[in-house]
Amino acid sequence: MKSVMETIIQNAKDPAAIKAAGDIIKKGGLVAFPTETVYGLGADALNPMAAKKIYAAKGRPSDNPLIIHICDRQALSEIAKDVPETAEVLMDAFWPGPLTMIFRKSERVPYETTGGLDTVAVRMPEDPSARAFIAASGGFIAAPSANTSGRPSPTTARHVAEDLSGKIDMILDGGPVSIGVESTILDMSVSPPMILRPGAVTKEMLTRKIGEVSEDASLKGGREAKQAKAPGMKYRHYAPKAPLTLVEGNEEDVIEKINALVKKETALGKKVGIISTEETFERYPAGDKKSIGTRLNESTIAQNLYRILREFDEDGVDEIYSEFFDGEGMASAIRNRLLKAAGQQVIHV
Ligand code: TXA
Ligand code: MG
Repeated sequence: MKSVMETIIQNAKDPAAIKAAGDIIKKGGLVAFPTETVYGLGADALNPMAAKKIYAAKGRPSDNPLIIHICDRQALSEIAKDVPETAEVLMDAFWPGPLTMIFRKSERVPYETTGGLDTVAVRMPEDPSARAFIAASGGFIAAPSANTSGRPSPTTARHVAEDLSGKIDMILDGGPVSIGVESTILDMSVSPPMILRPGAVTKEMLTRKIGEVSEDASLKGGREAKQAKAPGMKYRHYAPKAPLTLVEGNEEDVIEKINALVKKETALGKKVGIISTEETFERYPAGDKKSIGTRLNESTIAQNLYRILREFDEDGVDEIYSEFFDGEGMASAIRNRLLKAAGQQVIHV
């Protein structure tokens, strides 16, 4: 069945569209908008009813707190308390940009926005359309990624429409995003600060500015994994419809294993997806193979990740096998998202 009314898609660079989007937010409505990480689903962060609408549109559990997006540093003092000096250093270095920081919340922030927590997550995006939209909306936009809960995050306006058309008031189209994975989340309410979700602002970049930074134990994966501290990280997430399995080991063994699995599954009549890289694409003779980017520049892998997971849904594959991504920096964010999408399923060869 088709949705009753499709949501209108407007050009994010059009000032009239930004003005209209701001008016929708002020009236308590929902607008999807581009940021440099992924598209967000925005509502007025200080309006409890608007935050509730976000949960309904996404089908998101209401104990999962939202990030408040601001466009100037002055706004921070209105929503956060006890902001440490180290946070100022990080703002100087990484705001605007893909870094979200968690502080104690002020009374102005409703518990509907923070999922009942006394802390608040704050981010200042760099994307000019995002900033114009936040300003036009009154300065405080609560926004999760603009996908249906559990699906891969949207990196284009079309992805947003696939999930939310008919359920929200407007989509601002700013073209494909530049980073492709969500912001780094750093909890500044603990000492030393703790990374709850890895992103483009890497642990190494943070450490260089403020010294010791810890990592949520759930990020280690495998047997050491503990319950995640960011409520949102505990759900199966970013997931394609078909089961995804990561294959970890040295390159030759991984290629051999994936090819063997593809051969076996294909013989059973299954359609099998493969996530390869520029370096290995030609080494897979069969299967629905896609290159996720080049290992020489991991930013390209982050850019393509969610789009490729959605493409496998469209292709209707029954199984997906992916190469593994070791290492620190951006690889840590890529590995984290793929492990979530795979429900932690890894074959070691
Ligand atoms: O890049 C991004 O951060 C994107 C764009 C739209 O800005 N937003 C995004 O939001 O990824 P969302 O809702 O998909 O993910 C926010 C994560 C969730 O895992 C949530 O649990 C966590 O941040 N979070 C939010 N507030 C928190 C808090 N006070 N304490 C701990 N975790 C928090
Ligand atoms: Mg999300």
